[in-house]
Amino acid sequence: MSAEQRAKLLVEAMTLEEKLTLTTGYFGVQREWNEYQIAEARPQSAGVVRGVPRLAFPPQWQGDAGSGVATQGVAPPELERTLLPSGILTASTFNPALAERAGAMIGSEARSTGFNVMLAGGVNLLRDPGNGRNFEYGGEDPLLAGTMVGAIVRGIQSNHIVSTVKHYALNDQESGRGVVNVKVDEAAARMSDLLAFQLAIEQGDPGSVMCSYNRVNGDYACQNSWLLSTVLKQDWGFRGYVMTDWGAQHDTVKNANAGLDQETGLRRKGDYQFLDKLAAAIKSGQVAAARLDDMTYRIAYSLIAKGAVDEPVQPGKIDFAAHAKVTLADAEEGIVLLKNSGLLPLAASTKRVAVIGGHADVGVLTGGGSAQVYSPGGNAVPGLEPKDWPGPPVYARSSPLTALRGELPKTDFSWSSGSDLAAAAKAASAAEVAIVFVTQWTAEARDFPLTLPSDQDKLVEAVARANPRTIVVLETGGPVLMPWLERVAGAVEAWYPGSEGGSAIARVLSGTVNPSGHLPASFPRSLEQLPRPHIVGMGQRGEPAFDVSYDEGAAVGYRWYDKQKLEPLLPFGHGLSYTSFAQKDLAASLVAGELEVTFHVANTGSRAGKHVAQIFVAPSAGGWEAPKRLGAFAKLDLAAGGSGDGKVRVDPRLLAVYDSARHGFHVLAGDYTVTLATSARDPGTSVKVRLPERWLAAGAGAPVPQ
Ligand code: BGC
Repeated sequence: MSAEQRAKLLVEAMTLEEKLTLTTGYFGVQREWNEYQIAEARPQSAGVVRGVPRLAFPPQWQGDAGSGVATQGVAPPELERTLLPSGILTASTFNPALAERAGAMIGSEARSTGFNVMLAGGVNLLRDPGNGRNFEYGGEDPLLAGTMVGAIVRGIQSNHIVSTVKHYALNDQESGRGVVNVKVDEAAARMSDLLAFQLAIEQGDPGSVMCSYNRVNGDYACQNSWLLSTVLKQDWGFRGYVMTDWGAQHDTVKNANAGLDQETGLRRKGDYQFLDKLAAAIKSGQVAAARLDDMTYRIAYSLIAKGAVDEPVQPGKIDFAAHAKVTLADAEEGIVLLKNSGLLPLAASTKRVAVIGGHADVGVLTGGGSAQVYSPGGNAVPGLEPKDWPGPPVYARSSPLTALRGELPKTDFSWSSGSDLAAAAKAASAAEVAIVFVTQWTAEARDFPLTLPSDQDKLVEAVARANPRTIVVLETGGPVLMPWLERVAGAVEAWYPGSEGGSAIARVLSGTVNPSGHLPASFPRSLEQLPRPHIVGMGQRGEPAFDVSYDEGAAVGYRWYDKQKLEPLLPFGHGLSYTSFAQKDLAASLVAGELEVTFHVANTGSRAGKHVAQIFVAPSAGGWEAPKRLGAFAKLDLAAGGSGDGKVRVDPRLLAVYDSARHGFHVLAGDYTVTLATSARDPGTSVKVRLPERWLAAGAGAPVPQ
């Protein structure tokens, strides 16, 4: 029988109580603050939903998150898992096939840890660089974020488990996340944040979507019928189930009627909305019985369709050595070479290098909160503040310094922690090259200033003054300010590079790996360039409620800089290589009604390398929210002196404007400029193509406007 038939039969066979069981989830941690301690829960896990043994329907064991199997609270050695680089790094690879492989790896660890639901797929757009969770997401562009996150989700679910896509929607800041009301024009949302979700859902086909804590245009996301019923289920034809973010349920009747299918994260007795409260609402006629059947059906359907019922998860062995190679490959392709005055790659003949700061002697930084994975060996730098959740900051045990020594055995490396500026400067002046590691810990439930903490800018300035041959390696969760960029000889953005991050950094610096990461987000020159120089409600935890207006609409990231004619410090798409590439023969034409773009790329240097071709599109006469949008991208792997052809299709929604009145995407007839570039600031080369008028459905479940 099909998953649909089986799910239908299950719903028919279930008692009211059994249906209610499937729609309610509990926190999975074994701590005193968890007043439910459900026996079936996996140790220190995000959550559990009881099964229906009578019908052989398994419990749903829910584990975080998008970069590997996370633990709530410090993990004992048996819960240590392979940590992928942060989501923003995987997005920087511009390589969906690699992201899918990475997803398959962490999904297999979820399976081997006994989880059949992985709370992954974070795809909130980077509107505010200070958002504490940017590290978990896919950057500022809907096409890139949706494609890359969709690929991770596809990989996870190849293990016959469910993945979420989260946090739906417009949860683009953490300050006041439970009370903030995001005001956004609906059409603009459909062309920005919602488009990222739509693409990730189309490409990843997640079993579940997690609705977010915030309000959107007045209603909480988890009781927002426009978001859940109109857009997600109706327009996009989403057939899976919607679960709340942990504790994001507020009102039995509103939640149920708006389209929520499962509440999660219960930890205080009585603090729930479904169970007997939903039964009472059904009895009194406030919620239709058919709604509960639909909730149950959607949950059963997803678990069956993804294979979680037929192939039950079972805790088992993990091949850490094999998985280390996957996370290393991801890190190596997503580290971005930001600046290089010629010092990199480090010559094997370099006599003396001073390595300074960032705990580079022991490890690499990771992002905090529910996505926290403890990688093999645990925290390399215990005891850092904040001690309480979302802390403590965790360093994965992969030392860049040790790996550098391995890469350059003839070089003498000195180490200074960076806490003493004079000592750091002295070490730098005694060396041929100085490498300064700077870090910014970011985490869930908080937002962060864009200035590096603990006076690290001063450290960089002092080192660069002592030795202009200074390279800066950044480990940050998102864009930061770099007031010293002009005064250093090189800079590398390593994000949070995962459990093999130290090796990946060393291999990029030494040239064993030719960097090919590109920025999935613009770096501002100053706060004043941002649509919101400061996050509204910065630092606020709970009440009172407040509004944030996304007046920039769909002009997010580079679109905003373009529109405002601002020069960012580093543009979206930027990323250098140790070889050089030439792009040519750009052509654009309509093939079976779709815009197809072809081009040729040559590796004109003496090293093999991977090139990211970026296709930007724009109506020649203007009229969009911003001058241009990323329409497509492709990564080509080219041998030294080699060349290759690229061919991409532009999703027609990226050529359209959403029309709220007609309920669809509208491509206007006219000339369009197609640009082949290497970043959002590269003028590149352009061709024109004439497109006919076209209407497109709002999504797979909606009719094409006539
Ligand atoms: C986070 C989610 C996470 C959930 C379960 C929430 O605080 O926002 O991303 O999946 O907790 O840990």
